[in-house]
Formats: sequence, structure tokens, C-alpha cells
Amino acid sequence: MIQQYDQYTEKDLAIWNLLFSRQQENLNDKASITYLKSLAKMKPVLNAKEIPNFEKINQWFDNETGWQIKCVPGLIPVDDFFELLSQKKFCSSTWLRSMENLDYLEEPDMFHDIFGHVPLLCNPVFSEFMQEFGKLGVQMKDESVRLIQLQRLYWFTIEFGLINENGNKIYGAGIASSFSETNLSTENAVNISPFDLETILTTPFETDHVQNHYFITHSYEQLFAAILALKKNWTT
Ligand SMILES: [Fe+2]
Repeated sequence: MIQQYDQYTEKDLAIWNLLFSRQQENLNDKASITYLKSLAKMKPVLNAKEIPNFEKINQWFDNETGWQIKCVPGLIPVDDFFELLSQKKFCSSTWLRSMENLDYLEEPDMFHDIFGHVPLLCNPVFSEFMQEFGKLGVQMKDESVRLIQLQRLYWFTIEFGLINENGNKIYGAGIASSFSETNLSTENAVNISPFDLETILTTPFETDHVQNHYFITHSYEQLFAAILALKKNWTT
């Protein structure tokens, strides 16, 4: 599957522009500085003015951490997803939400996948964390209980993780790509626990509503160390 870039319409561009501009401003004082710096660094290939061109992004990454965007029709089997992650290939949809559904999605679209997930892939520590995550997923492909645990870890970090950088800051793509959740997740009333691997592995998640429980890490190194510790624990 390839991105059919010439199929995007003026309306798609207007939606992309609105989503990008609105969320960039919203995240300014709420996102992790590493995310914001990565977004700024990617500006030549990721900005409000043009729908992201995966070919250009892939070329840009050749001189960075080497990740590649792989087009997928939607959610794919977890085995395939981990296999691709282990090869530094991140899956993205190519479709974009409609103006009528700017804030609610049942499945991830290109704004979630690209704006939410891709900037941190140019951070070397986060990049290694993601690749190791994929490799461990591949090793656990026949271990259904552990696969569920890995999905929980993915959910509470890569999708909905917070990081302590002089306060609660966002790095999870599910929050970073959601205007309303960005505001909710940084409010004081929300339930936030310190990052703890054992707790996360035993905490189920629900996908059909805004999260009410987040885990906060103190550094990206902590995430990387956690995946290495899990690998050691499960494979030796
Ligand atoms: Fe996601």
C-alpha cells in the first residue's frame, strides 16, 4: 500500500491545517520539551501548510534515526505491528478525519499517527525504546498473556504517557493528537501514578472513552530501561 498523495483535496488540507495549528498552539506549554523540539526539527517535512508526504518524511529520517513510515489500511494484527516496529517501521493510516469529527475518532487517522507519534521517533532514546519494544513483541508472539501485558505498556506510555518536566507534560501520541484530552490530562483533578512497570503490566485499559488514569515517567531513559528489564526478565 502506498500513500496516494495526489488524491488529497483542498478540504483535506484545510482540515490538516486546522488540526495542526490548533494542536501545536495547545501543546506549547503542555507537551514534553523533547516532543516540541522534535516537532520543530521536523518542520521542513511536518508542518501545518502541507499534508505530510511519507516519502519526504522517510528521506528526512534517513539522516536521523532511520525510521520509515509504512502505510497501513487501519489497525493491523499485533504480530505484524511488532514485527514492523522491530525493523524501525512505524505504521500510519493515510486517511484524515472529517471536519464534522475533528475531536472524536474510533480508529487512528493520519493526524494521530503522524503528528502524535512520529516526532519522538527522531529522539535517539525514544527511538531505541520503540525498536526494543517491537523486538520484544516479536519474541513474545506466541505468549498471549505477555502480549496483553505489552499492549498495556504500549497504551500507558507510547499512547497515553506523561513525563515529569517541571510538571506533568505530555508525550503519549493519543493525548498529543487530541485537543480535548490534552487539556484534561494536565488538569490537577486527573488520576496520575508514578511510572511503575509491574503496576502497568497488570492494569487493564479501556479504549472507548477519555482516559482517567495516567502514568508519569521521569525520563525517556526510564522507559528504555523498563523495556530492557522486561526483556531480561522474560528471556533469561
Ligand atoms: Fe497510536
